[in-house]
Amino acid sequence: MKKQLLIALSTALLSSSLLAAGGGIELEKAPIDVHDKSSLQNGLRYYTNYCAGCHSLSSSRYNRVAKDAGMAVVPIDDSDEAATLADANAKLMYENIVFTTDKEGKPVNLGSLMHSSINKDDAANWFGAPPPDLSLVGRSRGSDWIYTYLKSFYLDPKRPVGVNNTAFPNVGMPHVLWELQGWQTLEEHDDGHGHVEQTLHLSQPGTMSPAEYDVVVRDLTNFLTYVSEPAQLHRKTYGIFTMIFLAFFTVLAYMLKKEYWKDIH
Ligand code: HEC
Repeated sequence: MKKQLLIALSTALLSSSLLAAGGGIELEKAPIDVHDKSSLQNGLRYYTNYCAGCHSLSSSRYNRVAKDAGMAVVPIDDSDEAATLADANAKLMYENIVFTTDKEGKPVNLGSLMHSSINKDDAANWFGAPPPDLSLVGRSRGSDWIYTYLKSFYLDPKRPVGVNNTAFPNVGMPHVLWELQGWQTLEEHDDGHGHVEQTLHLSQPGTMSPAEYDVVVRDLTNFLTYVSEPAQLHRKTYGIFTMIFLAFFTVLAYMLKKEYWKDIH
């Protein structure tokens, strides 16, 4: 009886996680590397230019993400050189990354949280759903899902904003990267056994080639994956140091044990 219950529970858990993850389509593997700083910088830049108007990252601060992406926005030491570099980077930040302003219309401080200024109720009215905070989307949806999602918008006149998405059917989000990618249309083929295969076809190219667009999507996915767990940049290094220490300590403990017991045996 217990065993049956266990099987039923695990089946239910497995199928719900599969449903949550895929929406029924095959996910494309995201070729990301959270240690690739130029990719993180590019992802951050595209994020603030194309996504931050609607989505917030309420657990991240501009200066922290910029620092993790390899941009020194605070002087690393007291030298004049470091201060000049930090000034240049701060300028770069205000030109490319930080566009949100405070209530008086002044650009927000570099230490501010990455909130979006969109009104949630207005947004819910416009898009049918409020744009969710993306702080944890790298973990809740996973990087393969985000990568596939950003490549799967297609024209659908039946939808309020004219687009749909194969990874997220009836999505409320418009295809904000359409100028870069262009427009895709959905083609459905029935394989004769009741299974309909969906493929997307680029019917109107954008300003980027598909390969260039893939790089933008990869960098955005990389950035959102990093944001969902900033500690992952250091976690593995700490782990390796801990293992080296433990190995060294084992030898030391063994030598000590031999020393203590040598007169007894
Ligand atoms: C014009 C507003 C708007 C912009 C700009 C925008 N989004 Fe969205 N996004 C939405 C809305 C609205 C939803 C919720 C869709 C729904 O629930 O139907 C959403 C949903 C999402 C989701 C799914 C979240 C989840 O777990 O359900 C992801 C991922 C996402 N957006 C990423 C992005 C990225 C990356 C960008 C920038 C390239 C971006 N969005 C730009 C409005 C926007």
